[in-house]
Amino acid sequence: MPSSGVQMIVVPGSASRQLASQLAGILKVPLANVQTKRFPDGECYVRVMDNLRGREAVLVQNTHPDESIVELLLLQDVLWQAGISKLTLVVPYFGYARQDKLFNEGEAISANTIADHIQNGVDKVITVDVHSTRVLERFKVPTRNASAMPLIADYLRRVGTELLIAPDKGDVERIRHLSARFSIPWDHFEKKRLDGHTVEMRQKRVDCAGKRVAIVDDIISTGGTIVTAAQQLREQGAKDVMAACTHGLFVSGALEKLAHVCGRVLSTDTIESKVSNVSAAPAVAEVLTTS
Ligand code: R5P
Repeated sequence: MPSSGVQMIVVPGSASRQLASQLAGILKVPLANVQTKRFPDGECYVRVMDNLRGREAVLVQNTHPDESIVELLLLQDVLWQAGISKLTLVVPYFGYARQDKLFNEGEAISANTIADHIQNGVDKVITVDVHSTRVLERFKVPTRNASAMPLIADYLRRVGTELLIAPDKGDVERIRHLSARFSIPWDHFEKKRLDGHTVEMRQKRVDCAGKRVAIVDDIISTGGTIVTAAQQLREQGAKDVMAACTHGLFVSGALEKLAHVCGRVLSTDTIESKVSNVSAAPAVAEVLTTS
């Protein structure tokens, strides 16, 4: 599919193997053989087994969890050492994107720190449903943000979803767009975050009685946001409530908590889990081949 004449190769980081493999399949290019291991003290070791001289490398690696960042930096270096001609970095889940501004004096703007360090020697950066596009403004190299949301909405339409819910006002634009494209009505809640694990949701009547409803968010972390929204929908008579997101972090037993209030949970493979039933690879492939 790539047309530059230079042979492309997809290089999987260990946090993004599944997506990298799907991407290589869609692009019909080889997937590099990367060996990754940890030394007894926890330090990372990487080795790329292919001949990469002159090739255009597409490195796919999350910046979450923290160990993935070190692996990413090592892989970038090893790829240039191996003689690649171009490096595109795909960051399916951009960890730290939620700390994208100064909320309190004295804090690190962590998203900027990560952006500064991962862009060295990179020709282009591609993210997927990055939490805040403000993060992309920090990069000095060209960036694109692919969206897996249409792939998620298409799945939701196929399973008979009758109402899309945004858990917060900030997500309204995204839901409105999906609603128009897939002809599914939408509404939204309004949340207030109290701390990392607790959210409060203003009581609001939505037209959900007897309907199959899907709550769509970019990230599910502790599940607190979705659980609170799903409880309101259940109380108002929703027939079925599904939770869907691009990035399923599912920390602190989130999947178990969600199982009490949601009939089904869906995420993409930007973070691999047992509910990664939609691949974000087609969205990444489209951005890669059209930019
Ligand atoms: C926040 O702004 C995000 O869009 C998500 O709503 C949030 O990260 C979800 O976190 P949790 O699952 O912990 O409520």
